[in-house]
Amino acid sequence: METLIKPLKIGSFICPSNLILAPMAGITDSPFRLLCLRGGAGLVCAEMVSANALKFSSKKSFKMLSINPKEHPLSMQVFGGDPQTIALAARLAEKEGADIIDINAGCPAKKVNKSGAGCVLMKDPAKIGEIVAAARKSVKIPITLKTRISLNKAEILSPLIAKIAQDNGADAITIHARAAVDMHSGEPNLKALEETCKAVNIPVIGNGGITDAKSAKAMFNCGCQGIMIGRGAVGNPFIFSEIAATLNGLEPKPLSLSEKIKIFKELIEENVKFYGESTGVSRSKKTVGYWLKDFEGSSAVRSQLVLAQTLSEVEKILAPLIK
Ligand SMILES: Cc1cc2nc3c(=O)[nH]c(=O)nc-3n(C[C@H](O)[C@H](O)[C@H](O)COP(=O)(O)O)c2cc1C
Repeated sequence: METLIKPLKIGSFICPSNLILAPMAGITDSPFRLLCLRGGAGLVCAEMVSANALKFSSKKSFKMLSINPKEHPLSMQVFGGDPQTIALAARLAEKEGADIIDINAGCPAKKVNKSGAGCVLMKDPAKIGEIVAAARKSVKIPITLKTRISLNKAEILSPLIAKIAQDNGADAITIHARAAVDMHSGEPNLKALEETCKAVNIPVIGNGGITDAKSAKAMFNCGCQGIMIGRGAVGNPFIFSEIAATLNGLEPKPLSLSEKIKIFKELIEENVKFYGESTGVSRSKKTVGYWLKDFEGSSAVRSQLVLAQTLSEVEKILAPLIK
């Protein structure tokens, strides 16, 4: 039987595996991406960066473009509503060493939509075509687009948008198989995903609600050549290896609680190295609910951790849980 887990060719770039970490603002920074590569991801996506902010030389946005030499393959996601500004951002990301440029056409956040970017672009598929074409012309590396099935539940737009993206030079398309109005909840629409796969020749990467081998397989069965995992990887960056093992007929080796917490501690230490102590600790706290759950006393440990201010306080709280 042919294995589902295999290298994924996106334009001229070959990812060693088709299990991909989703871009998540506030989460998929360099320390977390490195962890997911260790956990078996074949491609990691950076948090979305504002093309407009890069145009105006925002220091914070330039820091988001910085890439650790060890974190490849890496896709850098940019968002914006203007083709030339996206083209500029794509050039900057290519110069920083990104392997792939991804364009965000799926984010439902009001702040992003107000600037004409994210999921509102789905109302104007021709504009998506212009944006993809401008990015395509501006860089040599592959271009991908990440979008949704639809804006609302009534009208499925992804087959049309995928085709327009393909015709304007996109090398792959990621479909978050939910409507934009559903934000990040609800079952993925596998039927619409299957229709989208049939509409194009470029690889379609399926995303939305993948938490295990069963949900991953359901997306492969729609015709997806790759799958992208978001929240399932937060608190379990080894989900990629676990899914690969199961789908390859091997016994997966889930992390023990102690191993998981040790990895969380290492991530916090890396965050502190990357951002400095105050920001590193406070950023780590955002994902505490993903890491510290499903064990006796977890709620008390979470409450202690959210009050911690320094790395040594964090280490003291976690130490009794690591064997
Ligand atoms: C906290 C958070 C931040 C996100 N940020 C981004 C982003 O920057 N760019 C993007 O395309 N999608 C973003 N997403 C959407 C994810 O990439 C993904 O499509 C979504 O979480 C569904 O996948 P999942 O069900 O595996 O989590 C974000 C999702 C979450 C939960």
